[in-house]
Amino acid sequence: MTRPRNDTFLRALLREPTEYTPIWLMRQAGRYLPEYCETRKRAGSFLQLCKNPAMACEVTLQPLARYDLDAAILFSDILTVPDAMGLGLYFTEGEGPRFERPLREEWAIRDLTAPDPYEHLRYVMDGVCEIRRALDNSVPLIGFSGSPYTLACYMVEGASSSDYRRIKTMIYERPDLMHRILAVTTDAVIAYINAQIESGAQAVMIFDSWGGGLSAAAYPEFSLQYMQRIVAGLIKEKDGERIPSIVFTKGGGLWLEAIAAIGCDAVGLDWTIDIGEARRRVGEQVALQGNLDPCVLFASPERIALEAKKVLDSYHRQGGSDSSHVFNLGHGISQFTPPEHVTALVETVHDYSKILHKSI
Ligand code: CP3
Repeated sequence: MTRPRNDTFLRALLREPTEYTPIWLMRQAGRYLPEYCETRKRAGSFLQLCKNPAMACEVTLQPLARYDLDAAILFSDILTVPDAMGLGLYFTEGEGPRFERPLREEWAIRDLTAPDPYEHLRYVMDGVCEIRRALDNSVPLIGFSGSPYTLACYMVEGASSSDYRRIKTMIYERPDLMHRILAVTTDAVIAYINAQIESGAQAVMIFDSWGGGLSAAAYPEFSLQYMQRIVAGLIKEKDGERIPSIVFTKGGGLWLEAIAAIGCDAVGLDWTIDIGEARRRVGEQVALQGNLDPCVLFASPERIALEAKKVLDSYHRQGGSDSSHVFNLGHGISQFTPPEHVTALVETVHDYSKILHKSI
């Protein structure tokens, strides 16, 4: 298999030389784009959009048509996995995701099994194949999954939560049940990501959005350990090309060294940590992805350029190999972002990083 024509993103993840810093944005296909809102309306709902491979492909490509992004990310959601496990996912307007059958009873937890991704998540694999065909080797396609702990948060709470009362009670009161949920979900995630790789995903990312809310003692036991198992279980190479993995724990800055040591190729950073300091702390063992505060995109294009340069400068000042940074936001792009502000960000990252790369 040949690499995409623009393989800058893959090169950065694999710590190979690049001419500039590649950029993509978490949630790059989303409600800030009017064309996304239009397709979503046609689909009927967010979930119907996810479950329709042709429409999922259409929205995956929308941000790439507008901006000079260096990667595409599969349009889907992390919660399709617990949905396939039979929990009954639905979205209520303005309230986010909910499950009809959250995991509350011991018998339901004992009954939990990992779904066959080619059967119960067939629509995702069909989407991956369709997106790869449409991309026609222009840029790489990123596949993804939620981390077992982050998925378990929704599975146990039944919805987004402000205090994680139910899942934390289970951690402290019935760690055996918690570990059972996490072990089954880990098997499900490994099979799910590997199916995406078999279908054409060229890099993969694990979103641990809520792991940062765990205590220092609980994080390695209930989140990191399972992500390590996932990374160990992933297909490493397909058709002679390495499939790099990115692990992102939002709020995980305190535990960077531990995260960088689980065998992943790259670590995603939120905006609360200085990226140069992060590079110094993890040394040269992984690539780094991040980490502009998504709220910077509410400021003027001039300010956005300034803030993006701060991130690039901080990374660059740490010296070492300058080619192992993937620019991104520290979390998903807000639905209230003015679309034209993203143009300013992408252009600044490309233009300014070219100058920095020449100066090494
Ligand atoms: O990055 C991308 O463009 C790929 C698509 C993607 C979505 N969700 C689309 C989406 C990805 C990678 C996700 C991951 C996801 N989903 C996470 C992990 C990343 C994170 O943000 O921390 C989480 C926790 C979820 C669960 C989820 N899905 C929530 C809490 C919500 C509601 C949030 C909101 O903004 O309303 C969703 C819905 C969702 N997933 C939307 C999109 C574009 C908005 C839904 C809509 O169109 O109405």
